This record gives sequence, C-alpha cells and structure tokens, in this order.
Amino acid sequence: MSFQQNSRDDFPVLGTSVHGKPLVYLDNAATTQKPNVVIDAIANYYKQSNANVHRGVHSLSDKSTLALEEARNTITHFLGAKNQELILTRNTTEAINGVLYGWALHNLTKGDVVVTSQLEHHSNFVVWQQVCKMTGAELKVVPVNANGELDYEWLESHTQKVKLMAFTYVSNALGTVLDVQRVVSVARNVGARVLLDGAQAVAHMLVDFTKLGVDFFAFSGHKLYGPMGSGGLLVRQELLDKNEMHPWLFGGGMIAEVHADHTLFHDDPVERFTAGTPDVASAVGLAAACEYLTNIGMETVAQHEATLVAYALEKLAQIPSVEILGPLTNRVGSVSFLYAGVHAHDVAQVLDSQGIAVRSGHHCTMPLHLAHDWIATTRVSFAIYNTKADVDTLITGFEKVSQVFGK
Ligand code: ALA
Repeated sequence: MSFQQNSRDDFPVLGTSVHGKPLVYLDNAATTQKPNVVIDAIANYYKQSNANVHRGVHSLSDKSTLALEEARNTITHFLGAKNQELILTRNTTEAINGVLYGWALHNLTKGDVVVTSQLEHHSNFVVWQQVCKMTGAELKVVPVNANGELDYEWLESHTQKVKLMAFTYVSNALGTVLDVQRVVSVARNVGARVLLDGAQAVAHMLVDFTKLGVDFFAFSGHKLYGPMGSGGLLVRQELLDKNEMHPWLFGGGMIAEVHADHTLFHDDPVERFTAGTPDVASAVGLAAACEYLTNIGMETVAQHEATLVAYALEKLAQIPSVEILGPLTNRVGSVSFLYAGVHAHDVAQVLDSQGIAVRSGHHCTMPLHLAHDWIATTRVSFAIYNTKADVDTLITGFEKVSQVFGK
C-alpha cells in the first residue's frame, strides 16, 4: 500500500461524508486534518499526565513538565531550530504579533522602514501597518507580479533605512515560494532583520530554521497536522543573547524576582517567554504531528505533493472556463483560479454540494487581489493524504458548475 493510502486511513475525518458524498478535502491551506496519533497524544496527555508545569513539586507536575520539554525538543528538531529559540504561540498571527510587541516596538523609531509585499496574508501585513502607526516608521510594499513573484530588483533598490523585512515563505493564495537566500542577503547588507511567515511552508517542505538564516520564523501547528491553537515563533539565538527580543506577555512563570517596585525576568529564554500556564496538550499534539511527518519523511511529502500540484495544474488547464493563477513552477501547496463568469463563492458552493471542500474569497490576501483586480478566487490546496483521484473528482465537479451556471 502506498504511503498516502496508509495516511488516508490515519485521518478519521477523511472517512466521513458531506451531503451524502465522500469528503474530498482540498482546503488544507486553511487547516489540515489531524491523524489519530495527534488526537491520541492529546487525549493521553489529559488521561495520564495533566498537571500544571514547572511550579509543581509533585510527580504528576514533573511528568507534565517533561511532556512539554520533550514536545519542545521534537518541534524544534523538526524545524532545525534550538529548543530555546522556540516561543510557543497559538498560531502564526500571534507569533507575528509577538515580533511587533517583543521586537518592533523596542527597535523601530520614526523614519525607519519596514518592508513587506503585496503577496502577504493579512496577518503579515496589517501588523506592519499598525507598527508603523505606533512608531512612526514607514511601510514599503514590494510589488508582486500576477504569478505572485516578488519584484526582487525593487526590493534591492529600496533598502534605505530598512530595519525589518517581513515576507511569506510560501503564498497561501498562489503557492509561490520566496527566494529566501536573496532576501536574507539584501537584509544582511543593510543590517535589517528578516521575518519569514512559514505558515504555508512547514507542512510541505523540509524547513531548517538555522540554514534559512532568518531572524524570526512564524508558523501554525494546525496547518501542520497538529491541533488548533498550537504554533510558534522561532527567534534566532543571537537576538535572544543580545536581549534584542523582549517578553511581551507578563505575569507568572516568566519572572525571576518580583519586588513591590520592580521585577526581574527569568534569564532562561524559554521561561522568560512563557508567561502563564502553557497549552501543554497542544504542544504534545503538535510534537506528535512532527513525529508523524518525520516518519513519512518531508522529502517524500514534498515529492508527493509536487506530483499532485502538477497533476492539478495539468487538469485545470484543460477546462476552458478556468484561468489558473500563480506560477507554473516553483510553487507548493495551493492552486487558485478564476472561473469565467461565475463568482468564486458559487463555484465553491456547487463543489461543496458534491462533497468537495475548497476555499473561495480573497484568502486574507486583499492587497494581492486588489493589485490584480481579482474580486474573488477559488483555491484548492493539498496535503499528504490527497490523491490524484481527489483531483479527478474536482475536475468532474466542474461539470455541475458548468450545468448550473451555463458557463
Ligand atoms: N490562512 C488560512 C488560509 O489561507 C486561513 O486559508
């Protein structure tokens, strides 16, 4: 049996029906389904290890603390980072906001420049608009062509006073992959920090935070076969050592001493950035997802999905009403398209009536859609458990779209 057949059986929800039709789940960029190992890991944590961490002096607290430490080790190993470089968050959005409150407010001042792009998810765009309002810094937006490729030459010629470059590694709308090396080299030449939004990368390709050479890497666990409410921000060790990154949540757990008139924060970054009770079960679930993917092998995952994306592009190109958006190569995960004369929500609804789950709208990328006059697009996005048969079902699903709308 092929690995994807095995993996389909690992995901209970894939055995369910929608409108009486077997579910074909093609909305993986929004969130992935969860394998039994993740569901079981969370349940087992609550059944066998639940207690608050660190502060306890009893055995069950030690067990819970160990579970969290092991989970952190597994997650950071999976992402090529050091344990202390990980700040656990609820999702990518919270991680990026962490860079706003923990770094940008302490390091940006009037006249500084933050650079982002037209391709970004709102979470890596609105945050920088806000930080510029708060600090007086200026936001510059790199133009993106209709293939979702950044104008790197524009970036290279707009480097004055740039302190932060914040880009998505993989576009959630178009699947375009960023040339991270090129961005990092521009940033290093001008002493700017680089934040990579890795939300759409982590489930599709091998990520090595250390090798990427970026300063911040934000990701969501729920797009990585892990639980909702799990994710993290990786912060390069050098920034932690220099105290360039500050805690932005204050309270119990992150302190060394509290006096009536001042507080000393913990030296250890893991403690310093963990205020309050952490979501241990989510971390344990996310670690189980990382182990699951490691057992399959990220190269295998990448190869399987590349085959599916290529197959989808080939089949979609044969439908006259469909206009595929984004690049033909150097893309992963998502394929968005326009369907001539039919609104994306209508396309998605007719597909849903056949059990096919896709996303329609602007996919939280309004600047990209506005720049190209796309009112709304339909997106299919892939995961390890998808098959060519899923693509075939999607293609057949368009027959009903054509019947209903006469297009
Ligand atoms: N960011 C998620 C998506 O692209 C929700 O669908």
